[in-house]
Amino acid sequence: MENKKLLDKDSLVVMVVDDEVNVVETFKVLLDKYNVLGVNSGPAAIDVVNKQNVDLIILDILMEGMDGLETLKRIRAINSDVEIIVVTAVKTVKTAIEAMKLGAYDYIMKPFDADEMLLSVERAFERKRLNKEVVYLRSEIKPTAFENIIGNSEPMKRIFELVFEMCKTDSNVMVLGESGTGKDLVAKALHYNSNRKNGPFVVVDCASIPENLIESELFGHEKGAFTDAISQKLGKFELADNGTVFLDEIGTLPMNLQSKLLRVIETREFQRVGGIKDLKINARIISATNMDIKKAIKDGKFREDLYYRLNVVPINLPPLRERKKDLSLLIDYYIKFFNKKFSKNITSISKQAMNILKNYDWPGNVRELKNIVERMVALSKDSVITHNRFPLDIFMPEEFDKETVPEEKRSLVNYVCGQYEKKFVIGILEKVNWNQTKAAKLMGIHRNTLIYKMKILGIQSAK
Ligand SMILES: Nc1ncnc2c1ncn2[C@@H]1O[C@H](COP(=O)(O)OP(=O)(O)O)[C@@H](O)[C@H]1O
Ligand SMILES: [Mg+2]
Repeated sequence: MENKKLLDKDSLVVMVVDDEVNVVETFKVLLDKYNVLGVNSGPAAIDVVNKQNVDLIILDILMEGMDGLETLKRIRAINSDVEIIVVTAVKTVKTAIEAMKLGAYDYIMKPFDADEMLLSVERAFERKRLNKEVVYLRSEIKPTAFENIIGNSEPMKRIFELVFEMCKTDSNVMVLGESGTGKDLVAKALHYNSNRKNGPFVVVDCASIPENLIESELFGHEKGAFTDAISQKLGKFELADNGTVFLDEIGTLPMNLQSKLLRVIETREFQRVGGIKDLKINARIISATNMDIKKAIKDGKFREDLYYRLNVVPINLPPLRERKKDLSLLIDYYIKFFNKKFSKNITSISKQAMNILKNYDWPGNVRELKNIVERMVALSKDSVITHNRFPLDIFMPEEFDKETVPEEKRSLVNYVCGQYEKKFVIGILEKVNWNQTKAAKLMGIHRNTLIYKMKILGIQSAK
């Protein structure tokens, strides 16, 4: 059994992209079960992806020259299958969300915990396996829909009622809400409880498809329609026949495609790129976005007429911070979920840990909560989850009273980051002549957070 596992891993190729040679070497040691390639720049990474198969890329965000996000974008355009984990020097939700939007699978904070890193790598490979199965078994999966949406708060009760009503109709629905609030879950629930449930549920992630390919992705193309169109390809609308097409991140759809989509919805007809035949659509459209779409309309970035076509009924998912009443329900649910996955037997979470979670703002919503519970269940050696291994930003509010950092938090943050972080922060400060505003900007954090960090790490400002 163990042997087989190793054999599987042997054939997997991991590429580490980091401009610090030491970091690449560290990864090679950590990931010695896999074939690890190391490169030191974005262009070198792109070169490799162009030439050979890579299963997983571990990508540093802060690099000289082409940065990680740019590299990520270009790699995605070449290979849409490879799993990517980004490594950020300091985990800022903004960069992480940006990276996720561009198709990264996970992000980890530098300095990283070896166990955490390995867990993320394992998960990435597991996801890759699962994704393959999903494509293969597409017609056989019938997820049960509602019971995996957890919530008991008033806002969630209203959502359940609305989703329930909308399942009975064939109207287009737009699901709105911040990243991680459950838009995908709701879209699936709408499909698998509707009378289209035996038809396909086809997902189009508008944000991760390069702009020049979106049209053919949506509507397909004929052989020879453009240089790379070696054969005919069916678009997602055709594939979703009798089912539902889920247009995720619709807010990123370029203007010309918005016009095209509007025409398709109005006439219920479309043509493949390079084709002349009119094809009928028979797909319900569910769309989702985390953008402030009303503002996008005001700014002229989203067509109002398309908005009304797509948004026959809006479903507004509340952010987790507005339904903290659901926290314990969600945590219990995910503890059970991950107990099964890791064959663990975590029974509860300590009161202190729960208090910290209740005070946290949850910018990444349920996705963030789920990740944290997964990490805690996987890493916990005890049957009770404590706060000792909570990620850094849970303890590090953007605004704080710097005179009154509680003793308890001080030791916690030290525990989480260790001395490696101190070196890193000093390194950055030196780079910018100890200008705190510049250093904070470079790390992508608020200046107050930097001051807080310095205080906790015992770094004196040099003046
Ligand atoms: N109400 C909920 N109950 C249980 N899990 C949830 C809930 N909302 C979100 N999740 C989980 O959080 C993660 C992110 O949800 P997702 O639907 O992908 O969010 P979004 O599309 O809004 O970014 C998923 O793993 C999903 O299963
Ligand atoms: Mg989503």
